[in-house]
Amino acid sequence: MFSYSRLAALLTVSIGLAFQAFGQAPPAAGQPPAPGQGRGGPVGTETGFRTFQTKCMTCHGNPDVERAPSPNVIRQMSPERIYAALTTGPMAAQGQSLSDTDKKMLALFMSGRPLGSEEQGDAKNMPNQCESNPPLANPASGPEWNGWGVDAYNTRYQTAKGAGLTAAQVPNLKLKWAFGFPTGLSAFGQPTIASGRVFVGTDIGYVYSLNAQTGCVYWSFKTKGSVRNAISIGPVKGQGAAKYAIYFGDSHSNVYAVNAQNGALLWMTPADDHFTARITGAPALYEGRVYAPVSSSEELSGSNLDYACCTFRGSVVALDANTGKQIWKTYTIPDAPKPTRKNSKGIQQYAPAGASVWNTPTVDVKRHALYFGTGDSETSPAANTSDAVMAVDLDTGKMLWAYQAQANDSWLGGCNGAGKTDNCPDEQGPDWDIGNSPILRTLANGKRLLVAGTKNGDVFALDPDKNGEKVWRINVANKERSGIVWGGTADERNAYYGLSGGGIAAVQLATGEKVWFNPLSPDPNARVSNAAAATAIPGVAFVGGSDAKLHAVATSDGHTLWEVDMNHEFETVNKVPGKGGSMGAPGATVAGGMVFVGSGYGVLGAIIPGNVLLAFSAE
Ligand code: HEC
Repeated sequence: MFSYSRLAALLTVSIGLAFQAFGQAPPAAGQPPAPGQGRGGPVGTETGFRTFQTKCMTCHGNPDVERAPSPNVIRQMSPERIYAALTTGPMAAQGQSLSDTDKKMLALFMSGRPLGSEEQGDAKNMPNQCESNPPLANPASGPEWNGWGVDAYNTRYQTAKGAGLTAAQVPNLKLKWAFGFPTGLSAFGQPTIASGRVFVGTDIGYVYSLNAQTGCVYWSFKTKGSVRNAISIGPVKGQGAAKYAIYFGDSHSNVYAVNAQNGALLWMTPADDHFTARITGAPALYEGRVYAPVSSSEELSGSNLDYACCTFRGSVVALDANTGKQIWKTYTIPDAPKPTRKNSKGIQQYAPAGASVWNTPTVDVKRHALYFGTGDSETSPAANTSDAVMAVDLDTGKMLWAYQAQANDSWLGGCNGAGKTDNCPDEQGPDWDIGNSPILRTLANGKRLLVAGTKNGDVFALDPDKNGEKVWRINVANKERSGIVWGGTADERNAYYGLSGGGIAAVQLATGEKVWFNPLSPDPNARVSNAAAATAIPGVAFVGGSDAKLHAVATSDGHTLWEVDMNHEFETVNKVPGKGGSMGAPGATVAGGMVFVGSGYGVLGAIIPGNVLLAFSAE
C-alpha cells in the first residue's frame, strides 16, 4: 500500500538531494528553467541523467560493448527493473559506488516514473470505480476544454458558454472532489474536460479517465513514461469500434492515440530516437493530424565532460491521427549535428544542437501555418532559429519564417561560474527559451496578431499576415529575472501573463500597452513564481503559483476575486493520501461550471510537490 513515509522518501530523493548537493534552487527537469534558476548544474531528477552519463554510458550506448542495452532500451524498462539491476541484478557491481538515493534517481530518470507507481496507479486497484461506462457523447456537443490551449489558437480563453461559470460566481468556488495520484510528486498533466469526463496525464506513468462530476474512475492507461502535457480528444477512423481517441505524448517522446471510451491503445509512434528526447508541450490535434513538439533534457547536463555533447535537435512531427503514421518532421535547426572537436577528456563533441520545442503548436487556419516557440541553442554559434517563434506549412512542415526573440543564446546547464567545463559554449547565453505557445488573436478591426513572451518579461506581437513582422514588443517585468515561461491567455482585448518573479500582468493587444499588474503575493520580496500558464473566462483570469496558491483576478483591472491555498493534505475520492502543492507549468481548465487544477510540482526548486487533481464548482 501507498504510505506517507514512501511519499516522504521520494520527496527527499527528488528535492532534498537537489538542495543538499547544490545549495540553491535547482533548474527545471525537462523544461526550460526560469530565469534565475538553473545556475548551479543539473539537479532534481536530472541527477539521474548525470549519473547515467558518467557511470553508465561508457558501456550503454557504446557499440563495442556487446549485450549492453542501449540507453533507449533502458528507458523502456520499469523503475523497479532498473533499480533491481543495480542492487541485486547484473549491474550490482556498477551500482556499488552509488548511494541508494543515486540508484533511485537513476531509475526514476531513465524510466520516467517513480518506483511503486505501476501497481498503485492502476485504476483496477482503486476503490472509486464508476458504476458503468456509458457510450461517450460527442465531445464537441457539450462543454469542453480540449487540449492545451482550449482552441487551435492557444488562447486558453474559455467562452461563457463553455465555462458555465460567471465572474460573479467565481468567489463562491468550493472544492467538489479531489483525486490522488499514488506515488506522484507532480500533478503536471493539465486536465482535459470532454463528454462529461476528465482525461489527465500524470508523472506516475498513467493517464486517467474520470467522471467530471464525481471523480469516479472509468479506466487508466499505462504509458511508457510520464505525461506532463495536456490531452486532446477527437474523432478517430479505421480503428474498429473506437469512435473517439485521446492524443498525448510522454517523457520518452512517444506519441499515443488511446480509445477514449475504454483506454485501449490504438497506436503509439516515437517522435524522435534521441535518448534524451521527450514530449513536454502537448501535441496539437487539428483536422485528423497530430502535431507533436519534441524537447529534450540534453541541455541540462551536457556540460559533463564524460558526455559527447550535443546531438539533439528540437522538432515538430506531424502524424496521421487515425494511424500514427508520420507525415512530416521538421527540425528547428536544419543541419544535423556533426563531429567538431574532442574535449579535454578526449570525448568527441558535436554541433549544431538544441532549440527544443517546449510548447503546443498553434494552428493558423487562414494561412495554413503552424507556429511554435523554440528554445536556446546548446552549441555555439547559436542557430538563428533558437529562442524564436517559427512558422511552418501545415501540410509539408516547410519553414515559412522565424522571428528570433533573442540572438546568441547558447546555453548548457551547469556552465555558469565554477561549473564551467570545456563542453560548455564559449559564451554562455541567458537561457531564454520561448517555452510558451504563441497566441493567435483577431482584433475588432480584423487585424491578426501572434503574441508570445520571453523569460525576461518581454511580450511581443507579430503579424502572421506579414511573415511574422514585429508589431510591438514591451517589457512587463516588475523586477529583474522575472519573465514568461509557460504562457498566457488572451481575450478579445488583452493578453494576461503570469511572471516567474511573481504576479500577473495584462497587455492591451491593439496597442501593446501594459494595462495593469497584480503582484498576487502580499510580500514583494517573496520568491514566488507565477510562471505556470494562465487561463481566462469572460471577466476572469486564473493563474497558479509556486506557493501552491491558485488566484482568480478580474480582467478589467486585475483585482483579486478569489484565491485558494492548496498547500495541505486532501481527502481523495480514490482514498490515496493526497497533498496539494505548487503549480509549475500547466494551468487551470474551466468547463461546464467547474474549475480543474493539478496541484503539486516536484521538479523545480523552492517548490512544493503534490499529487492531487482538484475539481472546484460554485454550486
Ligand atoms: C562495463 C560496462 C557496463 C557499465 C559501466 C554499465 N553496464 Fe549496464 N549492462 C552492461 C551489460 C554488458 C549488460 C547486459 C548484461 C547481461 O545481459 O547479462 C548490462 C545490462 C544492464 C541493464 C539491464 C538489466 C536487465 O534487467 O535486463 C540495466 C538496467 C543496466 N545495465 C543499467 C546500467 C546502469 C544504470 C549503469 C550505470 C550505473 C550501468 N548499467 C553500467 C554493461 C555495463
